[in-house]
Amino acid sequence: MATVRTSIHGYWSSRFAFVLAASGSAIGLGNIWKFPYMAGENGGGAFVLLYLVCVALFGAPVMMAEILLGRRGRSSPMNTMRVLAAEEKCSSSWDLLGLMGVLAGFLILSYYSVIAGWALDYVVEIGSGSFVNVTRDEAGEVFTNLISSPRRLLFWHTLFMVLTMVVVARGVSKGLETAVRLLMPALLFLVLVMIAYAMVKGDFYAGLKFLFTPDFSKLSPGVVLKAMGQAFFSLSLGMGAIMMYGSYLPRDASIATTSFQVAIVDTVVAVLAGLAIFPIVFANGLEAGQGPGLIFNTLPLAFGQMMGGVFFGAIFFVLLVFAAWTSAISLIEPAVAWLIEKFSISRLWSSLICGGIAWVIGLGTVFSFNNWKRIELFNDTFLAGKSFFDLLEYTTSNIMLPLGGVLICIFAAWFMREPSRRDELQIAHEGAYRVWRFLARYITPLGVILIFLHAIGILEKLHIT
Ligand code: TRP
Repeated sequence: MATVRTSIHGYWSSRFAFVLAASGSAIGLGNIWKFPYMAGENGGGAFVLLYLVCVALFGAPVMMAEILLGRRGRSSPMNTMRVLAAEEKCSSSWDLLGLMGVLAGFLILSYYSVIAGWALDYVVEIGSGSFVNVTRDEAGEVFTNLISSPRRLLFWHTLFMVLTMVVVARGVSKGLETAVRLLMPALLFLVLVMIAYAMVKGDFYAGLKFLFTPDFSKLSPGVVLKAMGQAFFSLSLGMGAIMMYGSYLPRDASIATTSFQVAIVDTVVAVLAGLAIFPIVFANGLEAGQGPGLIFNTLPLAFGQMMGGVFFGAIFFVLLVFAAWTSAISLIEPAVAWLIEKFSISRLWSSLICGGIAWVIGLGTVFSFNNWKRIELFNDTFLAGKSFFDLLEYTTSNIMLPLGGVLICIFAAWFMREPSRRDELQIAHEGAYRVWRFLARYITPLGVILIFLHAIGILEKLHIT
């Protein structure tokens, strides 16, 4: 039952090009910025262990399901879900799943762009020598000055959003392949340089111990939820980004192999980033749980002392911006492709509109670090003390992405008919196919739902745990 649908947006030139693009989407701020600060805030080793378990149990099956649906539907997630639901004789409400993905993409990109803006600012800051031989407190001041200035944040946020729109407007495959092929290995190399530095000058043992000795007393239902959210976020799952990229995948490529490659590369980069950062944190008496500023307060200290640090530091942040760029593109591509399909407008217009929307929402994050640190409205609720950025970050990663991921799995593993599924996945090995189907049918949905229930405390109330 081979489908003959084609993509109106084009195709990747090869399976390798897809692996590059999907890795470009997966590797980004999530690995270098978010993973270390989440691990730092949530107790280190136990969080890392849970994260790895979530990548294996949920990440890999959901990624396969996303690519499977995308390649069969060959259009934006919203239309893919509509077409596939009709083909499999399911309710037309499945396209709401695409809609939730588009929404999540806008919300995530809105703050992603502000943080990528911090990295842009640091290229200039480090490149101009601001951190040469600074003390811990002086380095901290540079960061505080940056986030307290709405104007500076706005400038960099705007620049990053424009850069993203330029690439999306030209079509995702152009330029992306080269960027990922050359720049990702370069980023990895610099992370290794940082690890070498951390081994010599940092407290490497303390870093290792923090990341790899699980202290289960630090676990709480909230931490488990965050580890799961981080797995979805880091692998770009649950909102249709990988589904969109899958729709450009040639038919002869193996979905399973591809998914594993992307998941492994992404995880390795995150763990290496942790290894580069925590030894410096402990050697300088910095706070591991300080939150989103962690890498911006840590890495410049190392670059400030290192030989050639001005050069390496500037390059490091340039590469981080590139990594963020190739991720940002995938956050907005589903929305852009959908507008094109729906209203037959040009790619340029569609990119401008979508980028504009995300830019406006991003203003909320720009002010989250200065004028509106806390949303006063929620003072009496459990949201007290949270900023707009905190709320966005929390709801998108910990609720929207896992929910989207589970629904994608449920559609692929339950609602799609067996022949369609097998035809698209083309797994030669029967056992491997069954393992995937079992994970996607039972383990991922039940696991995610249990973690949700646990986090909202229902399981405790029922005395189940
Ligand atoms: N995975 C990217 C990172 O780690 C961010 C990202 C890109 C993303 N596309 C996504 C997150 C889709 C969730 C969904 O930085």
